[in-house]
This record gives sequence, C-alpha cells and structure tokens, in this order.
Amino acid sequence: MTKTMSVLDRTQEETGPESEDDFVRALLSKMSLEDKIGQLQQVDASGDTISDALRDAVRAGKIGAIINQVDPSVCDAFQKIAVEESPHGIPLLIGRDVIHGFKTIFPIPLGQAATWNPELIEACARVSAEEASAAGVNWTFSPMIDISRDARWGRIAESFGEDPFLTATLGASMIRGYQGEDLSAPNTIAACAKHFVGYGASESGRDYDTTNIPLNELHNIYLPPFKAAADAGVATFMTSFGDIDGVPASGNEYILKNVLRESWQYDGLVVSDWDSVRQLSVHGLTDGDRNAAKEAVSAGVDMEMAGSAYAAHLADLVADGEIDLSRVNELTENVLRLKFRLGLFSAPYARPEACTLPCAQEKLDLAKQAAIESTVLLENKGGLLPLDASRMNRVAVIGPMSDQPYEQLGTWIFDGDEALSQTPLAAFRASLPAHVQLDYVQTLETTRARDTDDFEAAKLAATNADIAFVFLGEESILSGEAHSRADINLPGAQSALLEQLSATGTPVVCVIMAGRPLTISDVVENSDAVLFAWHGGTMSGPALYELIFGLASPSGRLPVTFPKMVGQIPIYYNHKSTGRPASDNQITHIDDIEVGAKQTSFGMTAFHLDAGFRPLFPFGFGLSYGKIVYDDLQLDRHQISPNESIRISARITNCGKYAASETAQLYIRDVAASVTRPVRELKSFQKIHLQPGETETVVFELTERDLAFYRRNKSVGTEPGEFQVWVGANADAGLTARFVLEA
Ligand code: NOJ
Repeated sequence: MTKTMSVLDRTQEETGPESEDDFVRALLSKMSLEDKIGQLQQVDASGDTISDALRDAVRAGKIGAIINQVDPSVCDAFQKIAVEESPHGIPLLIGRDVIHGFKTIFPIPLGQAATWNPELIEACARVSAEEASAAGVNWTFSPMIDISRDARWGRIAESFGEDPFLTATLGASMIRGYQGEDLSAPNTIAACAKHFVGYGASESGRDYDTTNIPLNELHNIYLPPFKAAADAGVATFMTSFGDIDGVPASGNEYILKNVLRESWQYDGLVVSDWDSVRQLSVHGLTDGDRNAAKEAVSAGVDMEMAGSAYAAHLADLVADGEIDLSRVNELTENVLRLKFRLGLFSAPYARPEACTLPCAQEKLDLAKQAAIESTVLLENKGGLLPLDASRMNRVAVIGPMSDQPYEQLGTWIFDGDEALSQTPLAAFRASLPAHVQLDYVQTLETTRARDTDDFEAAKLAATNADIAFVFLGEESILSGEAHSRADINLPGAQSALLEQLSATGTPVVCVIMAGRPLTISDVVENSDAVLFAWHGGTMSGPALYELIFGLASPSGRLPVTFPKMVGQIPIYYNHKSTGRPASDNQITHIDDIEVGAKQTSFGMTAFHLDAGFRPLFPFGFGLSYGKIVYDDLQLDRHQISPNESIRISARITNCGKYAASETAQLYIRDVAASVTRPVRELKSFQKIHLQPGETETVVFELTERDLAFYRRNKSVGTEPGEFQVWVGANADAGLTARFVLEA
C-alpha cells in the first residue's frame, strides 16, 4: 500500500517530533466537540470486511481506535478511510492483544517470568512487535503486570507472578521490547500496562470479582510494577475491571488522577477495559451510562474500549455543564499525542512486506530459548536427568499433552499459527537417535478426560521402555481470562494415569504443561523427575527435548509460590510476619490431635492443621543439573546513612559435573517499621552461568530507594533501623546478615 500524504502528515514531517505539543494543539483547535468525542471511542472491528456502519462511523470521525483487526489489507482499508475521508484525516489506533507473541508464540507470560531473564523477555516482545506492526497493528494490550497471588485465577497465566520487583523488572523489559528505542519507528507498537490496578486480587481467584486491597498493600505491592512501567515510558495504561476500596477502577479518581497523573506525572493514554465504563453502573457506582461516562471522564479514562457511554452522553454532559470542555480536550490530547508518538500521521499503514512469515529461523531459535529458560526443574531424583539419548533403546511417550500443537501455545494466542508448533512427540521423533524405538500412547484424549480405556496400553509401553516420558497438564482453555478453577489438581484422570505408570517400575519423567501453578504433590511422589514447562509456545517440544537430554540446562525459577493444596491459597513468600508466625517446630498435624482434646491455642501459630505452613515449592525455586553452593556472604559495611549504598556479595560455586545456570536472589527484611513489612522482599537478582567447578562472586548494591516503602504517614521513603538481608537460591533459602540504616 502506498503511503498517502495528508496535510497533517506534512505538518509532522516539517515540524519534527520536538513540536509534539504544538502539533497536537493545532489539530485540536480545528476539531469540533463531536470530532473530539470520536477520538475517545475504540470499537470492535473483527471480521473479514468492514461493515457499512463502521465504514460510515470512521468516515464521520466517530472512531479513534479499533480493536481485533489483524488482516493487513483490512487494517489498511480502515486507515485509508480515516486518513483520506474523515474530517481531519486522523489515523486510527489499531489494537490487538499480542500477549506472548503474534505469529511466533513464546511461553505464556508466567512462563516468561520463570526465565528471570529481562533481556530475553525484551527480545521476545521485540519479535512480537515486528510481526504485529507488519500486519498493521500499532497497539498491544500487554504487559499484564497485575500481582497474582492466586493460582486459581485463570489470568495468572498472563502475569509475571506474585512479586512486585520481578513483575516491575520484567514488565519494563517487555515494554522496551514492544516500543523499542523509538515508538515512531515502523516496527514498534505501543505497549499497555494493565490492569490498573489490583485486578489480580479478585476474591477466591474468580475472575472479575471483588478486590479488597488496603492502601498499604496497594502502594507497596500492587502499584510498584505500574510505576516502573510509567518510568519505562509505557505508552498506555488500561484500567482494571475490579473495584478499589469501593470505587471501580474505571471511575477511580484516586488511582487515575492522584496517583497516575499527579504523583507520577504520566502523560500517556488511559483506556478502559472492555465495556468497563458502562459496567460502573453494573458495579452499582452509577445509575446509568450517562453518569458512568461522567465518572470515567472525571477520573481520567481517556478512551472507552468497546462501549458507547462516551459517544452517547459526553456531548450532553458538556452542554449541561457537568463536564468541562477542557476535560474533553485533555482526554483528546492524550489520544492525539499517542498517535503522534507512534508516527501514525506519517506512516499509518501495514507493511506486509516486512512480515517474515512463516516464522523465520532466528525467531524460532528465540522461542526455543525462551521455552528452555522458562522450564523449571522441580524434581530430579537420584540425578536421573539429563539423559544420554545414545544409551536409550526404547522409550515411551505418554499423555494428553504429548502432541498438542494448539494446547501447548497457551491462552491469548489469537494470531498464533498452531501449524508452526513443534510438539514434544514431534521433537522426540525428529531428534532421538535412529536406533531408539519410541512407543507413543496418548492415553487420554484431553487433559480433562476420565476414560481409562488406554491405561493398559500406556502401562505396557512404559513397562517395555527404558524411560517413560509423561506429558500432562492443562489445555490452553483452562486458564486465561474468565477461566478460573477452584480445584487446581491435574484435571481428569491424569493423576491416576501417572500413579499407574509409576507402579510399572520404569523411571518416569513427568512434564507438566499448564497455565498456572498446580497442586502436584502426587506428581512429585510418582515421578523420578518433574519439569514444569507452563504453556511453552511454538517451540515447546524441541526445548523440552534439549533439556531432558542435556543439550540445554534447566534454569527456570518459580515466579510464584506453588501450594501443596488449594486451601493454602493465598500463599506467597512476601507475607507479613503476623504476631504468631509459624515455624517448623511448632506444627501439630491433624492426625496428631487426640480425640476429644480440649480447645487450646497455647503456642499455636499461623498454619493449617492439614497443610502446615510451607508451600510445595517456594517462590524462586528451581533445580539445575549442577550442584550449586553459596558461601562467603560479605557486606561492605554494616551501617549506612540514607544517601549511601551498601554492596552485598556472595560466592557461588558449581560443585557438580554439569554446567548450570543459577539465579542468585537478594532479599531484604525491614525488621521494624511504622507499618508491618513483609518477612522477605526480593530486591535484586542475577542469572549467572557456571561450568563444573567454576566459582563466581555476585555483587549486589542496595540504595535508599530499595529500602523505601509506603509508610504509615502515607508517603514513600525509608525509616532508620535494622535490615536483614539474604542472598540465596530461593525465598526459603540463603545466607543472611544484617545491617543498619542510620537516621
Ligand atoms: C478484556 C481483558 O481484560 C483485557 O486484558 C483485554 O486487553 C481486553 N479485553 C481486549 O481484548
């Protein structure tokens, strides 16, 4: 498609990007109220063609953005109408949920978080942006940086897990990947920090449900990733479906105005979530669309996604003096500024020639690397893995996730091409030495199936094999938006299958492919090795082959705590101490209680009688093929004043016989403060690679900023006193020392 030059186009090229404000104001001054309201409207534009109604609306300047159109020729047709026929020739924002890949699918975000590798995540997002922008998309609704402490919540799959620091770090990387150095470059897209804020705290993990977040938690846990996103220059924010302290996010002036605009000085675009302006009335905040529009506009929602409250009522609200025209101007400016920043006034069209599809080899290599680094080795009894393929004679591949090109991609892969997926079965067949016989028994048609007809065939295959590889988990549709579960055991008859395979006596390597942490104590018990692979994307199969056979080394670390049983939820490492913290020597088990015992709370602590207080696996946990030893923790000082920093180092040695990656994690605890502080908080991490016998010293630096928190006086800062620090392999381990922050 040839580029069409408009008056605006020339204006932008002549004046240059430094005159963004002048450009936006000049354009705004020519627009009627109706034109402005049009810019605040995003509509669903899915389908192979453009409907007459939509065509007319774009032509009349009543649409500022579309969502869900990815056909380059249809995207271009939309842009052509907007640029050539609408009153001011203003191009459209074209949004799409490009969440963990466009055509090339990378691991689900929770899996990407398990890489603890910011550069890798940035590289994946860069590829996503290149593919999506080539199709004409200029805006993605990613990253989702909602803190997720509840594995029942389907959208935990889209998150970076439970930790504010890890989420902040990885979210910023993803934003950099999408937006590149220059948002106006043709191969970049606007990112969106969502869902502002607290959506992940929905009660019981039910999607869209109530959230109860005290101010202290809001500021110390839920807001920091969004602040980091704003600092990273994220182009847009999306509001949450939830309500914060009784005021739903899309009408919440405190978070949208006081925090985002005033305190953080954010000047990007804020979009509502799908129809969430109208839903203010469903929540019971307002009594109809008109007041819903009023609340959202007043609070600071610039653009309404897939709703019509603004279009229907904003003009009247202005005419009746309930909304000031200057407010509408501000909202419109935010939209126009984004379009300017994206360079849409000079290059609005798709670049299909830039699509290197089907996936180019370097993208597949990147997807494989991401899948490798996302996979967490949870168990490896007797050092079973890695296996030597040349010493195998016969192997069994069993289970409903062995060969599922679509299911291994995970949630939110509207544009992913399952035909490109390489499954474990395909990878094993392609890569095992020719002499190795492979017997495949899918056994269960889906992860939910309960039919045990093929169990005998599976057991026979396992019995005849040197090793049984069992691929279990969840299909894609069991996680993601609106797909929460109350039971997070393996669905269907998978556990029974594994138990029977284990009973054959053949060593079992179990790979779990799922969109959330699962309660898998039984899997750990019935397997010799367990790899948690999430939904690993296009290259899941080859990645797993390489890990299992030692061509790659497992380096994933859990970005979220794995509970033993669902009743432990919420369970997360950075909890508060409480007045009665649990410890190993205080636990009573339900089976140890005498029948008829009299009630007592003496010496009792915060734990469950049937689950204790420990999770199945702590945050940050993951094994490698090496044998990693931490020692020699050093602090360069034990006393610092507020403007000084402290250097903390530890020596890490790989005493094993395989090369390994280790993710050294630095945690702190503020021992006493004006509000209770978590028992541990992640403050830094470093991923290093060690050859057998190799030693490396990792050095961390903490500054006042790392020690700051939202205090009782409602400001962010530090308080003098003692801090404990740990350097170690996960949130339940580490060498520890103390230092004092002086007044
Ligand atoms: C609703 C989801 O909550 C949001 O994350 C997504 O970006 C929009 N729908 C658009 O699909």
